[in-house]
Amino acid sequence: MRMKSFIVLAVTLSSFLIVASAGNFFQDFDLTWGDHRAKIFNGGQLLSLSLDKVSGSGFKSKKEYLFGRIDMQLKLVAGNSAGTVTAYYLSSEGPTHDEIDFEFLGNMTGDPYTLHTNVFTQGKGNREQQFHLWFDPTKNFHTYSISWDSRQIVFLVDNTPIRVFGNAERKGVPFPKNQPMRIHSSLWNADDWATRGGLVKTDWSKAPFTAYYRNFNVQGSTSKFTNAAWQSQQLDAYSRRRLRWVQKNFMIYNYCTDAKRFPQGAPAECR
Ligand SMILES: *[C@@H]1O[C@H](CO)[C@@H](O)[C@H](O)[C@H]1NC(C)=O
Repeated sequence: MRMKSFIVLAVTLSSFLIVASAGNFFQDFDLTWGDHRAKIFNGGQLLSLSLDKVSGSGFKSKKEYLFGRIDMQLKLVAGNSAGTVTAYYLSSEGPTHDEIDFEFLGNMTGDPYTLHTNVFTQGKGNREQQFHLWFDPTKNFHTYSISWDSRQIVFLVDNTPIRVFGNAERKGVPFPKNQPMRIHSSLWNADDWATRGGLVKTDWSKAPFTAYYRNFNVQGSTSKFTNAAWQSQQLDAYSRRRLRWVQKNFMIYNYCTDAKRFPQGAPAECR
C-alpha cells in the first residue's frame, strides 16, 4: 500500500517536470552576446545570428535539460562562408563540464560545409567526428537534433542518425548523466583554424554573415529528479541502415580510426 502510493506520487511528480514544448524564442532563450547581431522576430518564431568584422553573436536556453530530444531547424550562412563557424551545442558549466557539439564550418561558395561533432565528458573532449552533408545546408532549413538519455547520445540530421555515442561506463569512460545542460548557439569567426588550418581567410566584403533558426522543439526532463524518466526510442533497423549509409559515404574524419593520434590504440569507447 505504501509502496503503491509512493509510485503514484513519483509518477505525478515526474509528469510535471517532463516538458514537451514547441518553442518560442522569446520565452525559451536569452540573447547572450553580439548586441543587435542576434535578433528574434516573427513573434518569437524565427531567430537570426550574424557576424561582422567587429563581433559574432550568440544565444542560450533559459532552461537546463537532463536528458531529452532537442530539435532545431537551421539555415546556415550562404555564399562564401569560409572561416565562419556556427556552433550549436548542449553544455553544462564548470571545469568538469559535459558538452555535446554540432559545429558547422563554412566554406567557399560551392564547396561543402563540414559538420563537426564532439562529445565532452567530465571536461574531456577529443572525440571528433566530421561529416559532409547530402544537401546544401544554406538553401533551406534542415533539422539538427540531439537525442540524449542514460544509454546513448544520438546526433541526427533531418531525423537520420549520423553518430551514436554509447554509454561506455563499464569500460571506464565517463558518460554525461548528472549535469544538466543548456542549449547554446553562436556564430563566430575562426579563419585561423576552421579553413584547412587557416589557409582560406574570411571575405569580410561579404559581411554580415547570417544564420537562421526556427521550430525549436524539446521533449525531455528539466530536473535531476526525473533522471530516468525520459528515454529515447532505440534505433530501429531502418535508422541503423541510415546511420551506416551516412558513416560510409559522408564521414570525413573519425577520431576512432586516427591511429596517428592514438598510437596506443583507439580510445576505449571506440572498441
Ligand atoms: C571546403 O571544401 C574543400 C573542397 O571540397 C574540402 O576539402 C574542405 O574540407 C572544406 N572545408 C571546410 C572547412 O569545410
